[in-house]
Order: sequence, then structure tokens, then C-alpha cells
Amino acid sequence: MARHQAPKVTYHGEGVGRFPVLAGGEGSLLDDRPTKTVGSYWPYTSMLFDYIYRAKPFAQPESLSADETCALTAYVVYLNDLLEDDLVLDQNNLVSIRLPNEASFVADHRTDVFNTRCMSDCQDPAAIKIISEVLSTQQEGKEDGLVDTISQQHPGQPVYDQYCTICHKVGVGGAPIVGDPDVWRGSIGNGAEVMVDNAVNGISSDAGVMSPRGGFVPLSDDEIEQAVPYMVGESS
Ligand code: HEC
Repeated sequence: MARHQAPKVTYHGEGVGRFPVLAGGEGSLLDDRPTKTVGSYWPYTSMLFDYIYRAKPFAQPESLSADETCALTAYVVYLNDLLEDDLVLDQNNLVSIRLPNEASFVADHRTDVFNTRCMSDCQDPAAIKIISEVLSTQQEGKEDGLVDTISQQHPGQPVYDQYCTICHKVGVGGAPIVGDPDVWRGSIGNGAEVMVDNAVNGISSDAGVMSPRGGFVPLSDDEIEQAVPYMVGESS
């Protein structure tokens, strides 16, 4: 991995709108409204690297290289006044930077998390999916309407709920809001096939930009093909 210096830019991690602030907040954890930042709350720089690497940027997770992630990690740590101006952060000294709140975290020894850690020949994380399903649709549920609700759930709804709501519920970045027929009419007029194609491959117009699969690269074509009709159904 190449060596990196914290980049010199003018943005300082202060957070915009509902996006959280990344620096400051030291000593605020016992306040009624603590400011939880990397400097005031997070335990380890390795977690910061891992989080950025896997989850950022917001619209395109898993798209940064290890070098870019290292540079961003250095910058966020630097914003918290935990790096000297000229200290060069790299894979060898990353974990030597200790965050102030580390000691407040303790190991969790409950049985369900106290498993042997896999350190070699582990399963490919991409192949692991968390699946939730309703196991029982027995008659008893009928009284409170549970069975009816379950059987009517659109197959595309779980994908939509998990991945697409973050933008399409309130219209982040110009995303058409699900449930508002006016903003969907034009797209719906192009037909389902065009819409699925746009959702799979990404689309940009004056309205905004959507990356392929909303940025969730591991989603399959099938999952998108199910989610789009659900969104259309909710917006017609
Ligand atoms: C990061 C924000 C974001 C996420 C997440 C996102 N979208 Fe979008 N989506 C947009 C934006 C912005 C547009 C409008 C793009 C345009 O019209 O140029 C859009 C447009 C669409 C359209 C209309 C395409 C057309 O033909 O007009 C569909 C369908 C769609 N998204 C499906 C999805 C699905 C399915 C998901 C979840 C897997 C999803 N989106 C997740 C931002 C997002």
C-alpha cells in the first residue's frame, strides 16, 4: 500500500443536513445529546478504515481502493486533531493511532457472539446474505389480520425496503419519491423494461443521478426486477 499524507482540503467534516458530524464532540458522551464522532466515540482506526472501505461513498459502497480509503482514514483522524500535520499514515502505523474513547469499549462475552474468529480460508463474505423470512403463516394469525398482510406483500418489497428507501422514500438527490404518481408518470410511460434497465445500469438526468443498482453492487438483476414493479405499483 502506498504511503499517504492527509490531503489538504477545505471541508472539515462538520456534517451537512442529517449527515453526521465526523470530528469534535470530545467530552460530550455524558451529555443529554452526545456528539458521537470518530474522535469522541469510535474505538479504533481500523474500524474507520473498514467502514469507509465497505460502506462509502454513500451512493457507491465498495468502490474505493485501499489507498484511497487509507487517505480518507488519515484525513478523518487528522480532522479530529489526532494526527500531526506531517505524519504519514500507512498500513503499518494505522493501528498505532489510538482513539481517545478506546478504553470505554469492553469485549462482549455473551454466548451468541463469543465464537471462534475465522482467520484463514474463511467463507467469501460476498456469498453470505442475511435473509429474514416469516416462518409461520398459521391460521391463528388470521384474527389480527396478520396472514392477510403477509400474503399480500409484494415480492419486491423486501429489496425496496432494505436498499431503495434511503433515496426513494424522501427523494434524496432528486430520486423520484415512491408514492407520488406525478414524478413517476414519465418513467412509467417508458415501460417496465426501460425502468429496470435504468435501475440496473444507472441513470442520470437533470433530475439527479442514480448509480447502477442504487450503488448496491451485489444486488442481482432478479432483485431489481422485483423491486421496480413494487415501486411502480406504489406510485401509480
Ligand atoms: C443513492 C440514491 C438512490 C438509491 C439508493 C436508489 N435510487 Fe433509484 N433513483 C435515484 C435517482 C436520483 C433517480 C433519478 C435519476 C434520473 O432520473 O436521472 C432514480 C431513479 C430510479 C428509477 C427510475 C428510472 C427511470 O427509468 O426513470 C428506478 C426504477 C429506480 N430508481 C429504482 C431503484 C431501485 C430498484 C433501487 C434499489 C435497489 C434504487 N432505485 C435505489 C437514486 C437512488
